[in-house]
Amino acid sequence: MLLIKYQIIMNPNKIILVGSLFFLTTQAMAQAQVAPITATITFNGKKFTDLNGNGKLDIFEDTRLPIDTRLNNIVSLMTDDEKANIMTGIGMPGFDGVAPIIGYVETGKVPGAAGGTFAIPRLGIPTVTVADGPAGLRIAPTRSNTDKTFYCTAFPVGTALASTWNEALVKSVGKAMGNEVKEYGVDVLLAPALNIHRSPLCGRNFEYYSEDPLVAGKIAAAYVTGVQSNGVGTSIKHFAANNQETNRLGVNEHVSERAMREIYLKGFEIAVKESQPWTVMSSYNLIDGTYTSARRDLLTDILRSEWGFKGLVMTDWFGGYPSFNAIANPAYVSDVVKQETAGNDLLMPGLKTQKEAILKAIKDGSLSKQTVNQNVKRIMKMVFRSPAMVNFKYSDAPDLKAHALVSRQAATEAMVLLKNEHNALPVAVSSIAAFGVTTYNFYAGGTGSGDVNKAYIVSLLEGLKNAGYSLNNDLQNLYEPYIKQKTNEENERRAKEGVMALGVKIAEMNLDKTQYSKVAAGSTIALVTIGRSSGEGADRGLNDDFNLSQGELDMINNVSDAFHALNKKVIVILNVGGVVETASWKDKVDGILLAWQVGQEGGNAVADLLSGKANPSGKLTMTFPMQYSDVPTAKNWVINTKVSWMGTDEPNLQETTYSEGIFVGYRYYNTFNVKPSYEFGYGLSYTNFEVNNLQLSNKTFEGNITVTVDVKNSGEKAGKEVVELYLSAPAGKLQKPTSELKAFAKTRQLKPGETQKITLSIKEKDLASFDEKASAWVAEAGTYKVLVGTSSLNIKQSATFTLPADKIVEKTHPAFAPDIAFVELKK
Ligand code: BGC
Repeated sequence: MLLIKYQIIMNPNKIILVGSLFFLTTQAMAQAQVAPITATITFNGKKFTDLNGNGKLDIFEDTRLPIDTRLNNIVSLMTDDEKANIMTGIGMPGFDGVAPIIGYVETGKVPGAAGGTFAIPRLGIPTVTVADGPAGLRIAPTRSNTDKTFYCTAFPVGTALASTWNEALVKSVGKAMGNEVKEYGVDVLLAPALNIHRSPLCGRNFEYYSEDPLVAGKIAAAYVTGVQSNGVGTSIKHFAANNQETNRLGVNEHVSERAMREIYLKGFEIAVKESQPWTVMSSYNLIDGTYTSARRDLLTDILRSEWGFKGLVMTDWFGGYPSFNAIANPAYVSDVVKQETAGNDLLMPGLKTQKEAILKAIKDGSLSKQTVNQNVKRIMKMVFRSPAMVNFKYSDAPDLKAHALVSRQAATEAMVLLKNEHNALPVAVSSIAAFGVTTYNFYAGGTGSGDVNKAYIVSLLEGLKNAGYSLNNDLQNLYEPYIKQKTNEENERRAKEGVMALGVKIAEMNLDKTQYSKVAAGSTIALVTIGRSSGEGADRGLNDDFNLSQGELDMINNVSDAFHALNKKVIVILNVGGVVETASWKDKVDGILLAWQVGQEGGNAVADLLSGKANPSGKLTMTFPMQYSDVPTAKNWVINTKVSWMGTDEPNLQETTYSEGIFVGYRYYNTFNVKPSYEFGYGLSYTNFEVNNLQLSNKTFEGNITVTVDVKNSGEKAGKEVVELYLSAPAGKLQKPTSELKAFAKTRQLKPGETQKITLSIKEKDLASFDEKASAWVAEAGTYKVLVGTSSLNIKQSATFTLPADKIVEKTHPAFAPDIAFVELKK
C-alpha cells in the first residue's frame, strides 16, 4: 500500500500535505524515533538495561518485577505531553510534515515501514516500528545510502494460506515471516487480516481467509502463534466488518448483533482466545452509525471483558476520518476522546492535531486521567516486550533461501484442484502449450499494503521449465512481444492519466484458428491461465473480473476446440486472489487448478502439482457460485471499482445493509438450496479417501463431545485429506443455517492403504446461537446432527446426539444497537 499512498501524495492536488515543514521535521522525526544508547547495570549479580542512563535500576527497568508494577512506574514518570505522544503514532511519511519516502528521503529506522510509536529519549524508551502485512513483511527493498537490498519473502496470500486448512503449516509460515520482521528491525507485523468474505467482489478478499469464521479464526491463530514465537508482535485486523473497499473510510455498515457475533466477530474471538495477539487494529468503517474505533461495546466490552484480550488496540491508518478530504483538512480532528474512551489506545499513523486534541481533553477533563493512564500502559506494555526495547541487534539478513522453501511448500498445499476429468492431471514431462498473458506475468499477490517487496516471482513459464517441461516455442514467440508492447502502452497510459489511474489488465491475444491448430499439433497438452489482481482501495468489478472477459472465454473455447480435436487435454490455471465465475466454461476443459496468488514461488508450486511431485490437498474456504446473482449479498452490494483510498470519496455509497444476516456463504447456499458451482470445503486429490467409523464419545451432550473418524487413503498416490465437521442444530425459536462448520483437521501425508484416526471435539459454545433478546449465546434443546465430510456437501458419515434442555452458554454485554430498522433474511 505504501507506494500507492506515496504516489497519491505526489499528486499535485495533494502535495500540500508534505508542506514546507518538511526539512525541519525530518530532524525532529529522527529525534523522536531514536532512543538513546543504553548501558547495562549489574544488580544482585544480574544484568539489566539502564534505559535512562541514570546508573540506577529503576522500577520500570527491573524485568524481575511484575509487568503491572513496571507499567505503573513508567506511567508515573511520564508527562502529559509524553503520554499524548505515545497515544498517537509518529506519523506517516508524506503526511503532517513527515518527510515522504519518495525521492529517497528516508525517515525512520526501517524505511518503508508503515509507522511507529514515539520514543521518550529521557526515559530510554525507543520507537516501536510497525510494518505491513499479511503475505509477508512489507518494507522498502532498497535504500539510498547502501547497495544492500532489503527484500522480503512473498508468501501465499491469506485466502491461499487458509485453503491449506493446515494450521501447523500456517504456523510455520508465520514463524518464517516473524523472523524477517525481527531481523529487519521491525517490532510488530500489521497482520493477519481476517475479515469475512461477505461478497466475492471485495477488493481485499485475497488478504482475508474465508466466508466462514471458524476457518478464519483458526488460521489467524496459527499465523499469530507462528509470528509471535519470534518475540515480535502481530496486529489482527480489521476489527470489524471491514468487508468492502468502496468508500472504506466512511461507509456505515448496518449489521445485526447476531450477525456481528456469529459471523463477523467469531474469527477474531477465536484468534484472540487462542493466540493472544499483541495488538488488534480497529477498522475504518462505522458499524450501526459509529466508527469501530469509537465503539466501546466492540473494543472494551466484547474484546476485553468477554474475550480477555490483553493487548492494545490501534486504529487503521487515519481511522475515524470519514474521507481523504477530512484527513487533509487541518481543521478536522477525529473524535479522539470517544476513540480513547472506547478503548482504542493508539491512533495511527498519528497526526499532530490528534495529539493536541488529547492534551486539551486531558486539561479540560473530558478525557479522564484513568483512561489516559490505562491506554498508555497498554501501549507501553507492547513497547516493553518489543525487540526495540532491548536494542535487539537485527541482522538485516534473514535466511531468504530457507523462507522461499517454506513459501513454496505452503503454496503447493494451498492450491485447490477443482476439476480433473479422466485423470487429466498429473501430466508427465512433455511439451506444453501455455496460453494466457498471465502465464508470463504470474501474480504473486494482490496490491496495496498486502503486497510484499520480493526479490523475484517465479512465473508459471519459469516454474514449468524448472520442472523439466518443454514449452511450445511458437506460442512463446507470439506472447512475449505482445505482452511487452501492451505493458509499454499501459505504462504510458497510466503516466498520462496520472497517479490515480487504475491498472487495466492486458487483454488476451487473439490468435487465428490455424494458429491454434498448429500449436495443438505441436504440443501434448494445453494450459490456459486466467489471472486476476485486486487490492486495497477498490472493489472488484463484475464484468471482465468476476466474470471472464469475452477474450478469455474465446481463448478457452478456441484452445479447447483445437486440442480436443486432436484428443489432447486442456487445463485451466486460475491465478486469482478471489472467486471468479466458473460455471459457464468449466465443461469445456478437462482440468481446473485453482492456483491462487501464492507468493514468489508460484510457478514452481504449480509445476510441483502438475507433475505429480506433490498431490493437491487444498480446499475451498468460500463458495464458487453458479453466477453472481446467486450470491446472498448481491442484492445489497453496490458495484463500484473506483479507487476510494483517499482521493475519491463516494458520497452516494455511504451505507451498506447486511440484510442477509447470518446467511453468509455456504450458510446461505445450503439453507436456501442454491446450487453452487463449487461448494465451500471442496477440493480434489490425485488419490481417493474413505472416511469411516464415526464415533461420538456420548449420545447426550454434557459439556463436550469427542468425535473420531478413520480416514483411509484408498487410492494409489500418497496424499492428505481435510476432514470437516459440520453441525446441524435442531429447529428451535432461533433461525439456524442447515449446517455450520464446527471443527476440521488435516491428515498427515497418508500412503496408499494407510489409515489415520482423526479426533475432533465439539464444545458447548459450538451448539449455541446468539439470541439478541436474551443477550446471550443459547444452545437449544433437541437432536443435533454431526456431519463429517470432505466438503460442505460431500458428507461421508453422520451421527446424532441430544441436548436435553435449553442452555444459556454465555451472557453478554448489550452491543450494536441498530441505527436504522431493516429486515433480515429468514428461512
Ligand atoms: C490498511 C491497513 C494497513 C495500514 C498501514 C491501511 O490503509 O487498511 O491494512 O495495515 O494501511 O499500511
